[in-house]
Amino acid sequence: MIVIKSKREIAALRAAGNIVALTFKEIEKGIQPGVELKKLDKIAEQFISSHGAKTLYKGIRQRPHQRPFPGVITTSINNEICHGIPDDRVLKNGDIVGVDIGLKYKGWCGDSCITYLIGKVRPEVRKLVKVARECLMAGIAVSKPGNHIGAIGTAIELYAKERGYSVVREYGGHGIGRNLWEEPFIPHIGPSNRGPVLQEGMVINIEPMINIGKPDTHLKKDEWTVVTADGSLSAQFEQTIAITKGEPEILSVVYK
Ligand code: CO
Repeated sequence: MIVIKSKREIAALRAAGNIVALTFKEIEKGIQPGVELKKLDKIAEQFISSHGAKTLYKGIRQRPHQRPFPGVITTSINNEICHGIPDDRVLKNGDIVGVDIGLKYKGWCGDSCITYLIGKVRPEVRKLVKVARECLMAGIAVSKPGNHIGAIGTAIELYAKERGYSVVREYGGHGIGRNLWEEPFIPHIGPSNRGPVLQEGMVINIEPMINIGKPDTHLKKDEWTVVTADGSLSAQFEQTIAITKGEPEILSVVYK
């Protein structure tokens, strides 16, 4: 069931999204070559709790008997697509790292992802990151009442393919509200007539994962980290948006 949110509920989601955006600003102060992923996780943990919010990823399981996720944020380096563990690895010059933050504030969830460039990054890698961000914006642009959910994936897939990239198929976006993963599931690929029709008051997360090589994924032995099957680089961006009568509203305001 897709839950339609009232204006007041959307304001509550906006407040949660704002704390997500502020947490990114805090992490950005420490993100540089030589920093341990654990350190970024600590920064996020302290910032989130000092702002009266609760972390959502620590201890979470996506399937029964899975090892609980050990971090507050997910950190996915280079060929890692998503759900990377913020362990004692150190960021190096030329790396890219996707940071995903999920939290709950006054009962409402916030969830976003940014891929950062670490130090001096090769032009072809910078281009991947730029296109991944533009893919998200292409998906947001068609998130309007009357379009099917499939219009979002179609816009993203077309944008990526025209530039020579592939789109991860196994993981998608989602509705968001009092729960982190609500209906509907949002594929980042077509066809455009798939899924329910978007209506005013739906709040969704779009989070395309874009690969330089093939779209296929592989789950590592740590039970969490998803990597590209061919070892190619991957980049991801995610924002929370509310469907309105006109232009969709970005609730996380991480970037525009
Ligand atoms: Co999400």
